[in-house]
Amino acid sequence: FHVDWDLVTAEKAGFDHFMLKEIYEQPKAYRDTMMGRISADGRSVELKEIGMTPEQIRSIRNIQIVACGTAYHAGMVGKTIIESLARIPVEIDVASEYRYRSPIITPETLVIVVSQSGETADTLAALREAKRCGARVLAITNVVGSSVSREANDVIITQAGPEIAVASTKAYTSQLIAFMLYGLFLADTLATREKDWIADVLASMQKLPDQVEMILERAQVLKQVAESLAKHNNLFFIGRGVDFAVAQEGSLKLKEISYIHSEAYPAGELKHGTLALIEEGIPVVALITQEDLYEKTLSNIKEVKARGAHVLGLVNEGSEVEVDELFAIPCTLPLLSPALSVVPLQLLAYYASLARGNDVDKPRNLAKSVTVE
Ligand code: G6P
Repeated sequence: FHVDWDLVTAEKAGFDHFMLKEIYEQPKAYRDTMMGRISADGRSVELKEIGMTPEQIRSIRNIQIVACGTAYHAGMVGKTIIESLARIPVEIDVASEYRYRSPIITPETLVIVVSQSGETADTLAALREAKRCGARVLAITNVVGSSVSREANDVIITQAGPEIAVASTKAYTSQLIAFMLYGLFLADTLATREKDWIADVLASMQKLPDQVEMILERAQVLKQVAESLAKHNNLFFIGRGVDFAVAQEGSLKLKEISYIHSEAYPAGELKHGTLALIEEGIPVVALITQEDLYEKTLSNIKEVKARGAHVLGLVNEGSEVEVDELFAIPCTLPLLSPALSVVPLQLLAYYASLARGNDVDKPRNLAKSVTVE
């Protein structure tokens, strides 16, 4: 009996690349990150790993989220989640900037560092600086025993499993799940949201893995779109609110592995400069999943379309938007939509990279974990 597979091929479990395998592992990563953290009656979040007492939680005056790269983009969504659920002011910094702006850190500051590997030098340095100034540090990381996990006061481990591809996918989405769990945990402790409301959100969160599967079933549609995007050298991602945060992650993913230049813009900011770059045929990926911002984003889409942009609209199922191409994601709560809307963007980046003949899993000049400053 002879198996004609090397170890790496075997580890890819039949997928052509680690990135694709990891994209498809997201439903499992969501389930595993929620597992054991939702009470049996589905009405509250149980984070036994958090050592803070309710009194200590009530004494938090401000939160600072610090991270790099994709983890920073998860933090952008995390800021919206925590501010909305717990009504605590949240700042966010890229770790390489944080220490040098002399942030105002007090013992009533909670610093949340987010790092897939738990070894990123800038993130680790930020953690140490925060502790030196007396803040309590919570780490969201994927690696048990990593430097970040050892040095933080509290740790939430995302259960995404090992991530091999340089472009992060399942680590990002499980960080979003971790932020939701932590936000609900704070909301419950601080009584900023009612128990019934929390139970409804948890029920919607548990539907996410199946909803991701529904998106993955339509991957071929995105492959076709990506193949035409891959012929361009410039494109834009636009969105408002958490759609803008996801737009940034979609843009980073595309840059990292397809080497196509792209920019993410808050849709309402286009008119202050970037609109000058919109010309006939330029691709614009527009995210429009937030109900309360729907009309506003729609008018921004009309602005770029009127200038000849070729628009791919990422919308909620059932919503009609006049664009050149439409991709619908299953309906969920506005705060949960990033955990769905990022998936088509990951696939777009993957297939664009493939169409350009790049090394998807090992993009040029980049490392999976950057352990130097
Ligand atoms: C590198 C990787 C990125 C990652 C970033 C932060 O730049 O290429 O994919 O997002 O580091 O890594 P971390 O392990 O701290 O999340």
